Amino acid sequence: MSDKIKTIGVLTSGGDAPGMNAAIRAIVRKALAQGVKVKGIKKGYQGLLNEEISDMDARSVSDIIQKGGTILGTARCKEFTTEEGQQMGAEICRKHGIDGVVVIGGDGSYRGAQALSKQGINTIGIPGTIDLDINCTDYTIGFDTAINTAMQAIDKVRDTSSSHERCSIIEVMGRNAGYIALWCGIANGAEDILLPEKYDYNEQRIINNIINNRKKGKTHHLIINAEGIGHSTSMARRIEAATGIETRATILGYMQRGGSPTCKDRYYASVMGAYAADILCQGKTNRVVGIKHGELVDFDIDEALAMQKQIPEYDYEVSRILSM
Ligand code: ADP
Ligand code: F6P
Repeated sequence: MSDKIKTIGVLTSGGDAPGMNAAIRAIVRKALAQGVKVKGIKKGYQGLLNEEISDMDARSVSDIIQKGGTILGTARCKEFTTEEGQQMGAEICRKHGIDGVVVIGGDGSYRGAQALSKQGINTIGIPGTIDLDINCTDYTIGFDTAINTAMQAIDKVRDTSSSHERCSIIEVMGRNAGYIALWCGIANGAEDILLPEKYDYNEQRIINNIINNRKKGKTHHLIINAEGIGHSTSMARRIEAATGIETRATILGYMQRGGSPTCKDRYYASVMGAYAADILCQGKTNRVVGIKHGELVDFDIDEALAMQKQIPEYDYEVSRILSM
């Protein structure tokens, strides 16, 4: 432990994700166990600038491991993208005796952490987003819960779709990334999976696929459409007109971001939270924690933000074959 780190702060930023509470709990308790004080910063960088800061103890994080959302609240804060905002954030940290901050969020939140570390406040990021779109890690907090929530909802749509012999377009979240769509597409046995990383906007191919599948005796046709492609309702209208098959669109929306976290989300959030507290208390800064090949890892934020991640090609190809 560095004798320079006496107090750390923790905040959640960007879209909330199930498992963030498990991470907060781990950070608080792992720091306290080393004699380091912890302050909770409410509502992300906005709460930092508004000085919504309070002391946390082991009991502040009791009974939260199973809860969705984030007890600290979250926000998007434009002011913090400016140099003045970042300087003010660092000054407020110093005023409250905060030597380092753990930031739980996505890529945007990491850029905020990077800026804060340039202003002399130690920072560590933890991947918290349902989208799985953080390149330096195989896992992000909330993804597992979100895909299980979406999968269960899609199963229900499938039931009614089969009964009515309809085509269903189900839109899942993921911003510009197709990971939720890919995982649900495979797990729900979808006939078509539309990913922003892959989609060629060839609607005729989908129409032909629907008609061919109907001829083969399939009673439903499930299309999982990623939010990054969107336009599910108008797509449904066009497909119905072209195929003569009743087509409905369902946009799953925010239900995917809520709910009690799965075991996997609680587990990884707990170990990553503890690890983040450890390296912050050791005096490290401008780093992000992740999971690679099942192991805990940490990278420099600049390096992490420059990394690339691809949709697994084999998995995507397999999904087409399995829906024959
Ligand atoms: P996520 O963290 O999920 O990617 P956002 O992209 O909305 O979500 O980022 C969350 C917050 O992080 C933003 O509202 C802003 O306060 C901060 N942030 C984003 N980009 C930057 C940046 N370039 N510099 C400083 N702060 C940033
Ligand atoms: O990043 C998580 C996420 O739910 C994305 O899937 C989605 O694009 C976005 O956040 C929605 O953000 P907001 O809560 O600002 O509507």
